[in-house]
Amino acid sequence: MTTTSPFSGKNILLGVTGSIACYKAADLASKLTQAGVKVQTILTPSAEKFISPLTFQSVTGQRAFVDKDLWGNEGHIQHIGLGLGADLLLIAPCSANTIAKIAHGIADTLLTLTALAARCPIMIAPAMDGGMFSNPATQENLDILRKRGFIIMGPIEGRMASGMIGLGRMMEVTDLYNHIRLALSQNGPLSNRHFIITAGGTQEPLDPVRVLSNRSSGKQGYALAQAALDQGARVTLISAPANLPIPAGAVIFNVNTAKEMLQAVLSAIPGSDALIMAAAVADFQPIRSARQKIKKDQGLPEIKFEYTPDILEKVADFKAKTGFPRVVVGFAAESQDLVKNAQQKMINKHLDIIVANDITSPLSGFTADTNQVTIIESTGVLEELPLLSKYEVAQTIIEKIKQRLSQ
Ligand code: C5P
Repeated sequence: MTTTSPFSGKNILLGVTGSIACYKAADLASKLTQAGVKVQTILTPSAEKFISPLTFQSVTGQRAFVDKDLWGNEGHIQHIGLGLGADLLLIAPCSANTIAKIAHGIADTLLTLTALAARCPIMIAPAMDGGMFSNPATQENLDILRKRGFIIMGPIEGRMASGMIGLGRMMEVTDLYNHIRLALSQNGPLSNRHFIITAGGTQEPLDPVRVLSNRSSGKQGYALAQAALDQGARVTLISAPANLPIPAGAVIFNVNTAKEMLQAVLSAIPGSDALIMAAAVADFQPIRSARQKIKKDQGLPEIKFEYTPDILEKVADFKAKTGFPRVVVGFAAESQDLVKNAQQKMINKHLDIIVANDITSPLSGFTADTNQVTIIESTGVLEELPLLSKYEVAQTIIEKIKQRLSQ
């Protein structure tokens, strides 16, 4: 099992320019370092007025370069060498001035020189006053950079250094971190592969207020989406209500009912590589949902149910005709006879892999951050995993699918 993250062993060159958001760059540098990235920093002269290179050296354990270094002994190789060894040049915060200079090939600081010489992807997180951002000069400069393949992240709306509210704040560090993760995953072993992942617990309406649902949190499905993205896959996440952040890069379809999920799955699967049905789909739905709220004083309601469509059954029909999705994975949440029930389900639902989930332990199953599963393959291979984080479980499942796809 590979448990490496897209961050481990990567080199990021962090450019920091003159903006009060510099202090957030130190936090970002620290988070990236903790995730296993080697972060070297380049500060522009105006960034040095806001923050010391020592701050970055302290949080990253790596050199932080300033313009003085450009004229030092190694200066002649510095501007080429730094950019060449990096997996990503990230400029955060990036001022309107630095954006303008890079757009026009001006190379008068170590950072702008490095940007001109770099051969790696370049990500820019603009941070400036709202007026400077909306100025046509800045907008046109950003358009130039976008056309050249630069990844532009933000800015976002909010309070700025001037005290005014507007569009110009640097994107939040957690969001930037997630987009960096995505950028580092490009060209991973699953690039060109399309994964469809369902997550969460469906909700079947009884009336405009009430629903029939289940305890699924969506955590395992979202972790699967993240683990597939981390290997470069294109991910469609079909999610029933789940109170979780959407992994950066996933194309999300929000659904409520089993029927809506079926429609979303059927429209996503043509040509796809893998479908992972991690969602807890309702097995029955009220025959009809009352148009108005069912009133308490009208006596106890008698609700009649019908079966929901079995999504995996329809997927099996589609796969029999077209061959897609290439690999189909189902989940079996069981409270007894785990393996036996799961094996039977794998056969009934024509699955390639089934993940049997023991829901009796509080550390496993629905709301926990950990999970204890047994992965059963149609080839007969059975692997009982120890208690792991849901992300580690996801990595193992993605690994098995990857093996299937390469056969
Ligand atoms: O039969 P059971 O509901 O236990 O099967 C679980 C598996 O089937 C899960 O992968 C779930 O997402 C999927 N399922 C489905 N359509 C349903 C109910 C469950 O595809 N209506």
